[in-house]
Amino acid sequence: MLFSSSKATPLKEASVEFTDSQKTETWSDSDGSLLDFSEHQNIPALSSCRGGHCGACAVQLLEGEVIYEPQPTAEVGGREVLLCCAKPVTAHIKLKI
Ligand code: FES
Repeated sequence: MLFSSSKATPLKEASVEFTDSQKTETWSDSDGSLLDFSEHQNIPALSSCRGGHCGACAVQLLEGEVIYEPQPTAEVGGREVLLCCAKPVTAHIKLKI
């Protein structure tokens, strides 16, 4: 399962592995969305609307689960997540980026 139910809440901290960039960093609640976090880590993430509407920030989630805050309107493939709206809800997630 890639997404948690809407009742799940983001963790205070999670380990985020960026497989293409070969980096693993600790995300915390104050880092915001996984798009904000990726950019702060100098991971090359695509983006446009930053609000879940365009789909530009979609990447493959290889491991773990995320929750969307806010809920996006863009549609993505079954193993993709929209970084601009996503936060981890498992202690470790793996992103193909
Ligand atoms: S940047 Fe547009 S959906 Fe994430």
